[in-house]
Amino acid sequence: MTDSQFTPRVFSGIQPSGCLTLGNYLGAIKRFVQMQEEEYETIYCMVDLHAITAKLLDPATLRKNTRELAAGFIASGISPEKSILINQSQVPEHAQLAWIFNCIARMGWMQRMTQFKDKAGKNAEASSLGLFAYPALMAADILIYHATHVPVGDDQKQHLELTRDIATKFNQEYDVDFFPITEPVIEGAATRVMSLRDGSKKMSKSDASDASRINMTDDADTIAKKIRKAKTDPDALPSEAKGLDDRPEARNLVNIYAELAEITVDQVLADHGGAQFGAFKPALAELAVTKLAPISSEMARLMDDPAEIDRILAHGAEQAREITEPVLKKTYEIVGLVGA
Ligand code: TRP
Repeated sequence: MTDSQFTPRVFSGIQPSGCLTLGNYLGAIKRFVQMQEEEYETIYCMVDLHAITAKLLDPATLRKNTRELAAGFIASGISPEKSILINQSQVPEHAQLAWIFNCIARMGWMQRMTQFKDKAGKNAEASSLGLFAYPALMAADILIYHATHVPVGDDQKQHLELTRDIATKFNQEYDVDFFPITEPVIEGAATRVMSLRDGSKKMSKSDASDASRINMTDDADTIAKKIRKAKTDPDALPSEAKGLDDRPEARNLVNIYAELAEITVDQVLADHGGAQFGAFKPALAELAVTKLAPISSEMARLMDDPAEIDRILAHGAEQAREITEPVLKKTYEIVGLVGA
């Protein structure tokens, strides 16, 4: 199969399972914004069906999170004119294709998914069937658009491999070249933002400690306080990147500074090498507030007008369905389902 048969198309999604964090912004959304300026068609998704797999959320909270994530996408520069911005449950073909993929994927493949094992923990028997099937829905999100490129964090690499396995098996079983073999676009380690309390853990909206993350809706004082309290070691900053080896918390703060200022780690260290955290943290806090304040105030403005967000998402769903309806119809035909 030649890749050129498929339009270069980017798909990615974020779960509306909590507040949007600085990690989502620097690690994912900033790149989504860049990719919309490149040669791809871009489709970005709030994956609300995925958000209820680990635990059921209070309905009002889920609705609010979904709108807030949409506001975050738009405030960060995802343009509804340049990208298709959607909420997963508003495009029913995602879930419909997922069913077929449930019948393509093998139990053994799913049982190897490390994220399921992590999320299910010791009590896998009590976790939902949805959590187990989560990667098949993710494959459907991607393949219902025939997306060719998927920017994701490192932790999603195995799910992308599964997506390729599902596409390959489907194509082989039915002797077609219908689904593309999607390329993962994995973020570099430098863009991975870690917890402010533990430099070995990813900054996460689901971490129990709010002090571990910067939320895109945090005000200036909260941001400054969280940075001031961020875990560090007692040493001064090194003057070269090498000096950050084995200093995960120091490296995280320097990385965040570099990403926010859009300069390299070496440039940050050229300016701040030798400084103690007592001096570096206020500089970082000031930078973070300057960069995030316009985004959070735009988010707040959008959240004041939920009808406008809903209108944008309804429009996105309409655009999306121009792609997803024919792909599902063709899939049903290939499979022999009369429902198309
Ligand atoms: N599983 C992804 C995450 O938690 C979210 C997601 C769902 C996704 N569907 C997707 C990402 C499709 C990329 C493409 O980060």
